[in-house]
This record gives sequence, structure tokens and C-alpha cells, in this order.
Amino acid sequence: MNTMLSGAVALISGGASGIGLETAKLLKQRGASVWIGDLQDSLGQAVAEDIGAHFIHLDVTKPEDWAAAMDAIQSKDGKLTHLVNNAGIGAGANLETETLEGFTRTINVNLVGVFLGCKSAAPLMAASGGGAMVNVSSIFGIVSDPLSIAYSASKGGVRAMTKAIALDLHARQTGIRVNSVHPGFAATPMVSSAVSDMAAAEAEQYAARTVGRTPLGMAEPIQIARAIVFLLSSDSDYMTGSELVVDGGFTAA
Ligand code: NAI
Repeated sequence: MNTMLSGAVALISGGASGIGLETAKLLKQRGASVWIGDLQDSLGQAVAEDIGAHFIHLDVTKPEDWAAAMDAIQSKDGKLTHLVNNAGIGAGANLETETLEGFTRTINVNLVGVFLGCKSAAPLMAASGGGAMVNVSSIFGIVSDPLSIAYSASKGGVRAMTKAIALDLHARQTGIRVNSVHPGFAATPMVSSAVSDMAAAEAEQYAARTVGRTPLGMAEPIQIARAIVFLLSSDSDYMTGSELVVDGGFTAA
């Protein structure tokens, strides 16, 4: 196994919490210089200090924030070799209850944010000699749920767009591999806040048809982070445009 990443410079969007934070910690342990980009400035700064990472304010929907992040990373570390487009939001709503505003917001963060991340980072990564990107999609980019209208639209978009970007970056000989990860249900603030927004009976039914139907139960965020780091490392050097499902068996049924 060659999962060491010494000499690597990695940016993780949404790295202040949950899966992104566990990925940041693991990348630090593997020797990378780690940049956490997040909307949550005080939390992001605190966790970055705690693990020895850099923090930069980043709203993934804003091209100017991505440009500022690239400038900061280039001037401090001189290169960027790895990107994890992890920032995401999720709120349960069906076709009747989803609003245009909610739908557009989810698409903006979860899909447009990933597009902007890949587009903004590719030139610096190519100039750095290549590397790897991981886009965090979801099993709800492959299968779905009645309460996952906007979320599935965004994550299905990430799944297919990742393949197009992987082919494009290969065709342009950038040396950058791009893959998507499709987590099942992990215990993070995103999931607990989506469930706490539901009425009790609805939350119970949702839990029964999601975690309740997952053979290995709910994931810890570190179990998803390990798969992300595998796709960033040279252990996955024959993988690009692939989708890695990490769902405790949910989609096997
Ligand atoms: P989380 O809520 O713990 O972390 C998400 C982070 O993204 C937060 O720190 C938040 O501040 C940040 N963020 C939100 N909007 C942002 C924006 N516009 N710009 C920059 N940062 C922003 O959530 P979790 O669960 O760790 O989610 C990480 C990724 O994993 C998301 O893309 C999510 O859709 C995906 N995922 C999570 C699953 C789960 O069960 N937890 C399952 C499948 C996918």
C-alpha cells in the first residue's frame, strides 16, 4: 500500500465538519499539507489549528472565493496536488414540499460548487504536475428516496459530471485523475439537522427505510474519509471517472 501523501498539497471544501474534517485529519496523518475551505469561519479556524491545517474562507458557490483560495495556496505552498469537493447541504423535501428556492440552493452548493471547484483548481493542479480530485456525491446520486428531489438531482449531476471532467482532464494531458465517492448514511451534523427538521413520524419512517435497511448500519465519517483518501492516493492510480460506493451494503439490496 502506498497511501502516504508526503509532499502533497490538498484542499478540502466543507472541511470544518463531518466527512470533510475526517478526511483532513487523515490527510495530515499521511503527511500532506492540508487546506480546509469552509463557510464556517470560527469552527474551521479552530479545527484547522487543532490538526495543523490551514483554513481559508470558501463559499463553493462563489468563483471569487475559489480564485482567492488558489492564490493563497499557490503563494504559501507553491502548488496544489489534491482537491476534495466535499461541501454539501441536504434537506428532505418531496415534489410537493420542495420549493424553487430550495431546489436552486441545493443545486448551487452541491453541483455548481463542484463544477467551480474542479474548474478553479485544474489549472494550478496541472501546473503542479497533476494529482487527483475526489467529488463527494452520494448513494442518492445512484438510487433515491421520496424526500430527495433536489439532493438526488444535485448528486446525480456530480456523478455524471465527474466522468466528463475526468475524460476532459485526461484528454488535455493534465495528469489529474477525477473520481466520485458515494457514501451511504454517516453520522454527521448534515444528517442530524435534516432529520431534526422532519416531523417525528416522518423522521422515524425515513430512518427505517435508510439506516434501518443498511446491513452494516450507520457509518462513522472516518469510514467514508478512508475511501476518499484511497482515491487521492497512488493506490488508485488506474482509476479515473469511476464511482466508489461506500454504503455498508445499502444499494446491494
Ligand atoms: P456536514 O454538514 O458535517 O459538513 C458539510 C460542510 O460543508 C460543513 O462544514 C458546511 O459548513 C460546509 N458547507 C456547506 N455549504 C458550503 C458552501 N456553500 N461553501 C463551503 N462550505 C460549505 O456534512 P457531511 O455529512 O460531512 O457531508 C459532506 C459531504 O458528504 C456532502 O457533500 C454530503 O452531501 C455528502 N454525503 C453525506 C452523507 C452522510 O450521510 N453524512 C451521505 C452521502 C453523501
